[in-house]
Amino acid sequence: MQAFTVQDPHSYGNRHEVMPTHLSLDIRLDFDQQTIDGSCELNLSWLDGTADYVDLDTCDFTLESVTDAQGQALRYEIGPRHVYMGNRLRIYTPEQQDTVRIAYRTAPGAGALQWLTPAQTTSQNLPFLFTQSQAILARTWIPCMDSPGVRMTYDAVVRTPPALTAVMGADHLQHDPAEGVFRFTMPLAIPSYLIALAAGELAFEAISDRAGVYAEPGVVGKAAWECADMDHMIQAAESLYGPYRWGRWDTIILPPSFPYGGMENPMLTFATPTILAGDRSLVSLMAHELAHSWSGNLVTNATWGDFWLNEGCTTYFERRIVEVLYGTDIAEMQWLLGQRALHHTVEQFLKTEPEFTKLSMNLDQHDPDDAFSELPYEKGANFLRVLETHVGRPAFDAFLQQYFEDHAFQSMTTSRFLDLLQERLFQGDSHAWDDLHIQSWIYDPGVPDNMVIPDSDHFERTRAAAAAFMTDGSLTAVHHDTWVTAEWLDFLKSLPQGVSYEQLRQLDGQFHFTQSGNSEILFAWLAVCIRNTYEPAFAAVEAFLCGQGRRKFLQPLYAALCANPATQELAASIYRMARPGYHPIAVSTIDGIVNA
Ligand code: BES
Ligand code: ZN
Repeated sequence: MQAFTVQDPHSYGNRHEVMPTHLSLDIRLDFDQQTIDGSCELNLSWLDGTADYVDLDTCDFTLESVTDAQGQALRYEIGPRHVYMGNRLRIYTPEQQDTVRIAYRTAPGAGALQWLTPAQTTSQNLPFLFTQSQAILARTWIPCMDSPGVRMTYDAVVRTPPALTAVMGADHLQHDPAEGVFRFTMPLAIPSYLIALAAGELAFEAISDRAGVYAEPGVVGKAAWECADMDHMIQAAESLYGPYRWGRWDTIILPPSFPYGGMENPMLTFATPTILAGDRSLVSLMAHELAHSWSGNLVTNATWGDFWLNEGCTTYFERRIVEVLYGTDIAEMQWLLGQRALHHTVEQFLKTEPEFTKLSMNLDQHDPDDAFSELPYEKGANFLRVLETHVGRPAFDAFLQQYFEDHAFQSMTTSRFLDLLQERLFQGDSHAWDDLHIQSWIYDPGVPDNMVIPDSDHFERTRAAAAAFMTDGSLTAVHHDTWVTAEWLDFLKSLPQGVSYEQLRQLDGQFHFTQSGNSEILFAWLAVCIRNTYEPAFAAVEAFLCGQGRRKFLQPLYAALCANPATQELAASIYRMARPGYHPIAVSTIDGIVNA
């Protein structure tokens, strides 16, 4: 039960009157129709003695029946379809029934689901399905109160065609691929956006007795090698901020169309195969998703306007884990890259949507996805670093550890967080509030001028190397045998707008960026090539855009292709080819960029 309730502009749920406390799913995956059908039972806890209905979030469902626990039909109404809110489902419960049961089928094209044909998988043998519920897409496959401020435990039966393996972010009770029946239970209360399911031809490799990797059989070996540090990450995280509360931590490496880098589904991180660089250079993403097991999954943003509480705290925590495992140098470089991204995002949004450059955002009348950017991550993390620097690390770490313990399995608003800072962190320090510009950090657009400048001279060297190259073509300042990913990224991002064909040819000849197996480096390089109409890389641009569907990579590359008159046609032709393989989330973003 929540200690308090707040309004959530992105849910129809009447949770001030009634709270779902437990969900029981029994669903069948229909790969032919690309729909899920089955039943969903919700246990209800009534808060208001006079209420006689429960409002749920749904989206384009076909309803077969709505009953109480005894099978007695209940009257219901389906509201009109709202563009991002979906349909309100009002179920009348004159006796304040403790259970409602909904038999339903999802719509083809449900926003949380991507159905892959065998041809779209690595092994090409069996179809694949995965869900992505954050932020407000759980309602496209489960009728629920789809708000991060409502938590439930759940159990689920998932019925698949034979030979498929289904996994969920939950305890696995029954695993029967021959029969196609899988049972799960999640005994810890979580919000709907963390309910996750994947099914396909899956293999598993253990990393330790509490960590492991699922992936398609042809990928699992490479994936397990790349993720070898998972258990060390848990140890590092626990040493910082207290016990890991979720039992196991597994990860599933999804097919390349997964639209995000990673998703912190409890007990089972979902991850893109684009982190498999072959040298473990991109595994800080795993540290990020693990950190969410505290910031986000234990203490959860109350609404999507408080998203920075999830992502800013997690980005800060991620870099602390990176520091423990890979050293201060690497962590400081990530802080620097983050600040570069932050300035870029602020610059872009300040003109068009200054609201989206605040930490506490008013998202009334907005799809939370419209406000999605690196801002809550980097501005939020930098805000915490300002606090850390002011009070000192020991005090700040003690504060955070206590914060996770005191508010575990609860939701958190920005204003409550500020109260906690006053009470617990600043205690009698009455000047800190003004001196650190706390009000401005949280409620003003842009970034205050007291960010902590990371202590690192690495990027002075990468920037000098980029400048030297532009001046006289010299590459002697590029230390290609010692540079880490962040240095390459900074070097590429430091190249000016105009780089000549000859210069690009020289760079690629020397460093073979076009062949890079590191998706971040390849992405940064291809962006430079597109800006400068460097045709020898266009086949690689096409291969990259058709070969993976991570929105963070697609969006800037398509935008760059469309911004350059010489590559607009190329954008359209690549997108026509690639679009059927992209996830609905990526499609809706790229549809807004490319006129295909
Ligand atoms: N929770 C996010 C992904 C997300 C956010 C999905 C909002 C849907 C709506 C996840 O933890 C995340 O931040 N992933 C990043 C990687 C991370 C290393 C910054 C991503 O996907 O790129
Ligand atoms: Zn995150």
